[in-house]
Amino acid sequence: MQVDLAPDQTGAVLSAETYPQFAHALRNSSCRMCELCHGRTNIVVDRGNFKAKIMVIGEAPGKNEDLTGKAFIGRGGKTFDQVMLAIGLDTNRDMIICNVAKCRPPDNRAPKPEEAAACKPFLLKQIELVRPKVILLLGATALKHVDPTRKIFFMESEVGKFFTLPQFPGIQFMALYHPAALLYNSKLKPAMAEHAQKLKSFLSL
Ligand code: URA
Repeated sequence: MQVDLAPDQTGAVLSAETYPQFAHALRNSSCRMCELCHGRTNIVVDRGNFKAKIMVIGEAPGKNEDLTGKAFIGRGGKTFDQVMLAIGLDTNRDMIICNVAKCRPPDNRAPKPEEAAACKPFLLKQIELVRPKVILLLGATALKHVDPTRKIFFMESEVGKFFTLPQFPGIQFMALYHPAALLYNSKLKPAMAEHAQKLKSFLSL
C-alpha cells in the first residue's frame, strides 16, 4: 500500500503559516498517508472557529462528516453542541473541533494506530497554528493518541480533570466522554454535565 502525500502537497500543508492556508491545503490535497484514503469522500479538517481558545479533538469522521467535509455534525456532534450550549458555549463560535483521523474509517471503527500516527502531523500542525488555551479530548481514542504515555486507563477515572502535558506547554487538557457514548448510555449524561460545569468555572476564572 502506497503511503505518501505528493511532496508539493506535504509542503503546502505542513509548512502553512496560517490556519486557513493549512486547512485549505489539507482539504484539497489527495493525501495517501494511510489506507483510509481509499474510502473517503472528503478529508474532514475541522468545524468551528480557528481563532477560538478552545480546541476539541474527537476520534474520526463518521458518515455525515465524510459526506459534508465538516467535523462532528452528526448525532454525536449535536449532543456535544447541546452540552456546550448548556454552559453558554457555541461550538461554531467558541471552539474549533477536529479529529485524530481526518478520513472516515470503515464501519465507523476507531482509527488504527498506524492511521492515527499517519495523521498526527496534521493534528500537531492544527494545535501549533490555533494555539488553544484549552483542549478537550472526546473519548479514549483522542486521549490515548494525544498522550501516548497513557497505555491502559479507564475513562471514568480520566474524565473531567484538567491536566497538562510537557510537549504542549501552556495548554490545559480535559478528557470528556465521547458524546456518542452518551447516546448509548444516558447514565453518563449527569457526569458529562458536571464536567462541562468544571470547564465553565475554569473559563470564568
Ligand atoms: N465522531 C467523532 O469523533 N468525530 C466526528 O467528527 C464525528 C463523529
